[in-house]
Amino acid sequence: DLGTVGDELGLAVYAIGGFVRDLLLGVANLDIDVTVEGDGIFFAEQFAARHGCRVRSHRTFSTAVVIFPDGAKIDVASTRLEYYESPGVLPTVERSSLRHDLYRRDFTINTLAVCLNGPSFGRLTDYFGGQQDLQERLVRVLHNLSFVEDPTRVFRAIRFEQRLGFHIAPHTENLIRSAVRMNVLNKVGGLRLLNELIQILRENEPVGAIVRMAGFGLLPFVHPALKLLPEIRRVVEETGRVLAWFRLLYLPDACEQWQVYFLALGDRLTTDEFHDACRRLAVPGRISTKVFSHRRQALGTLDAIQRRLRRNPEVRNSEIYDWFHGLPLEMLLYLAARANREEVRRFVSQYVSRLRQVRCSLDGDGLAALGLAPGPRFRTIMDRLLVARLDGEVVNDEQERALALL
Ligand code: CTP
Repeated sequence: DLGTVGDELGLAVYAIGGFVRDLLLGVANLDIDVTVEGDGIFFAEQFAARHGCRVRSHRTFSTAVVIFPDGAKIDVASTRLEYYESPGVLPTVERSSLRHDLYRRDFTINTLAVCLNGPSFGRLTDYFGGQQDLQERLVRVLHNLSFVEDPTRVFRAIRFEQRLGFHIAPHTENLIRSAVRMNVLNKVGGLRLLNELIQILRENEPVGAIVRMAGFGLLPFVHPALKLLPEIRRVVEETGRVLAWFRLLYLPDACEQWQVYFLALGDRLTTDEFHDACRRLAVPGRISTKVFSHRRQALGTLDAIQRRLRRNPEVRNSEIYDWFHGLPLEMLLYLAARANREEVRRFVSQYVSRLRQVRCSLDGDGLAALGLAPGPRFRTIMDRLLVARLDGEVVNDEQERALALL
């Protein structure tokens, strides 16, 4: 249908980039990127009008997003020429031809285009040997300045290599090494760097990519003290296992996998260093507050648990609740991954899968209805009721009411 609208408007329309790459690899990819030779925004508006979709356009970049009523999206770009005025800064955009547009892209495997117009529907355009590199499973840049123009591509190269099971081509590897030596990553803004890191840490199996980042010397750009020491690698690998366990619980809670990996990677950083890393990455305040600001407290708790276990290995549920209550899920999973003792992992697992849902059934109104005089004492009573529920001393509402009146 995209092609039909293109035919009507006399515009050449191509599916492009990751969609075509994954199509040829037989990998599912629902993100369709389309490039129009000419005015992409005009095309997007016309297409949307015929299909009852909404359009969000970016005049500066000559791009638009077509949004279908069910939420599905198509990204529409115009063939364009991007000028990188200085490394690490977003490009300035002008219109140009398809070949020019493709030449501006990161890797040959992302430069394949499929024509969608009626007469040439399905015709593949491959200016830069993308098909051959797909066959040889290589991630290769188009020209020597690629990483200088856009240093975030260093991370993208690693992400594609690891996700697709490809290799970064030898010359491309050398270009990464010289980009790292030239410190081009220092010019990348915090949020862009964070975004690349997040995308890597959200991949299915990010450990390979983390090892690769460390191998290229990329971690110090996040923080000079960040290194993949053997004990950190252990925590990172354990994180994969803990997350796999968590997924098997099929809980409704969303867990941000990248945050757990990020905590694991920063395991040996001091509180100040960890904050500096967050600042370098411009981690948004709401994330810092929700997850990372609990780090010091959580690590303190973990120490306390290990000491407590040395004294006496018997632990009541209410103690576990007390340790973990108030910590975000991501932090709990990180604690499970970094703990040296099997018991700690079991405590986190009990808390996450069961204990954090435990409630007492009486609230303030319930206590008043029992004839108790309202006051600060209610908090103490309710805490005691919760402890009794957690530890199984109270198993039904009747016993709970009896305990409240004691
Ligand atoms: N691109 C680029 N340089 C970047 C980012 C993107 O050249 N720093 C180009 C790539 O050619 C890519 C296209 O823009 O194919 C779209 O980017 P994106 O959606 O990030 O890439 P996908 O290949 O679709 O990746 P993913 O499968 O992770 O969505």
